Amino acid sequence: MSHVFFSYLPSTQPISQQAFKTQTIQPHGFKVSCNHSPDDHINNQVILPEPQNLTPPNIHRRNLLVGLGSLYTATSRTPFSIATAAPITTPDVTFTCKDALSEANNLTNSVRSRKCCPPNIGKKVKPFVFPNEKTVRMRWPAHQGTFEQVDKYRRAIQAMRDLPDDHPHSFNNQAKVHCAYCNGYYNQIDSGFPHIDIHIHNSWLFFPFHRWYLYFYERILGKLINDPTFALPFWKWDEPSGMRIPEIFIPENVNGKPNPLYDVYRDARHIKEVVIDLDYDRKDKFVPDEIQIAYNLCTIYRDLIRNGGDTISFFGGVYIAGDSPVSNNDPSVGSVEAGSHTAVHRWVGDATKPLFEDMGNFYSAGYDPVFYIHHVNVDRMWKLWKDLGLPGHKDPTERDWLNASYVFYDENEELVRVYNKDSVDLKKFKYDYIENSEQVLMWQASRYAKHVKRSKSGPNKVHMTQKVETVDELKFPVRLNKIVKVRVKRPQVDRTKAEKAKANEVLLVKRIKFDSRKFVKFDVFVNEKVKEGEMMTMSCEPEYAGGFAQIPHYDLKNMFISSSVRLGLNELLADTNTEGEEYAVVTLVPITGCDDLTVGDIKIELVPVI
Ligand code: C2O
Repeated sequence: MSHVFFSYLPSTQPISQQAFKTQTIQPHGFKVSCNHSPDDHINNQVILPEPQNLTPPNIHRRNLLVGLGSLYTATSRTPFSIATAAPITTPDVTFTCKDALSEANNLTNSVRSRKCCPPNIGKKVKPFVFPNEKTVRMRWPAHQGTFEQVDKYRRAIQAMRDLPDDHPHSFNNQAKVHCAYCNGYYNQIDSGFPHIDIHIHNSWLFFPFHRWYLYFYERILGKLINDPTFALPFWKWDEPSGMRIPEIFIPENVNGKPNPLYDVYRDARHIKEVVIDLDYDRKDKFVPDEIQIAYNLCTIYRDLIRNGGDTISFFGGVYIAGDSPVSNNDPSVGSVEAGSHTAVHRWVGDATKPLFEDMGNFYSAGYDPVFYIHHVNVDRMWKLWKDLGLPGHKDPTERDWLNASYVFYDENEELVRVYNKDSVDLKKFKYDYIENSEQVLMWQASRYAKHVKRSKSGPNKVHMTQKVETVDELKFPVRLNKIVKVRVKRPQVDRTKAEKAKANEVLLVKRIKFDSRKFVKFDVFVNEKVKEGEMMTMSCEPEYAGGFAQIPHYDLKNMFISSSVRLGLNELLADTNTEGEEYAVVTLVPITGCDDLTVGDIKIELVPVI
């Protein structure tokens, strides 16, 4: 057996869960049956009058196809699109990619190339075939690698860096895969929308796209060192001992040679011995490590359980052919993507660079080896979420999700088309995750503190309040250049246990329009009773519903893009003792990049748990 070469980072003292008023997760073993679709609920109406002059109702094409055809003019789509509901289909990436547009787009100050298209080596797109090898690649925690694991990983990345630049497997070309898919270099020509780009963030494509990307990346690395068992590490930021940048990525040189895992564009303040902040908003909190760790565990609990209670809330919203980043359909961003995932990007990226390279901008993130390792853990979150087996924790089954497809260079330099439907079963991929079976995942026990009685505020006050504008008549869209408070009517009060088992109460913050070139973050509190001049509570406090956060996109065409976010209220209302209140008081707190951000609508819905 190989010995542990890289020592563990300083082990963290066990946290007294009591100190942070966390409580054990409640059993969720009930059986659920519900045939309603979200649209069936007559109780869903918000609240206060909806403005007439605003964007037309969001009518999904699927609804149109099942008989609401007469309403089609209410969408931003053409009748043509209505007749052809189709999954997002990536075209042949070597023919339709937009480097020319990127060059014409005068972006200064970028430290990485803006030419992101893959090389054309004359290959035709082929169907994907699952691997038939006997062995399973076991992905390992990056802070606990054995000498052998770390050595192989370093050699493989070095071999990738040594490839000629125009090789499809070269380090730069692998980084560009992310840039091209995230910044609109491909269009929806194969689904009949040549003028609409493809984006794989802020929707239900987020998990499957990155899973495929890493699947090929891992196999390419294995092939480069001729090792069919090669497995990637993961940055285990969900466990206290893994909540720092893994040590193997830090030194500039190892044994007198450049460390292939090193990247020069990282935030120097966060490189060593600093516990990551999974709610990071570009300000360091300077709290003791054990408090930051407890906050992080609450954040993961929030991403996977509190706000990830149904398929769409966890994966992100429906995104199909004809949807653009500025369409009225504005798919919601999934709970992990908007939460810990985005925080890690911005925490690692170099804040002294105007574009926050590498991790802090989608176009450049792939140039930092830690990006892949971060995303391996994001991929693991998908697995852990499913393995929790809670009602609502199911992969999407819609045809438009199952049949969405991407094109990648595989480990044999073949261009292959891969589908979401083939991404759900890890067994077929022949990789898995090394878990410590004795270790109870600490975040599972990190449900927020329940207030013993209605309390005005808790101990962890972070935000200074700015001027608060109370919007009683919903004057949407509202601009978030100040704190905004809105009363939102709930569909039902005092729901019984059986009713809660059938449907989750979800807060929807919709039609968020923001400048895609900026870091954006606002926080959402529910039933937080602070007054102007007081401070807001955060992180493990039950009033904190979560946030909406974005990494700069530098989209080629669209400066303003549109999205939405879904935040779970079941536990929040229970833990703040406000289940009986007819209205929820929703407070939106701008944190960064929100001066020109507008919110189009806020409502509360009952989302059936299937
Ligand atoms: Cu494609 Cu973390 O981003």
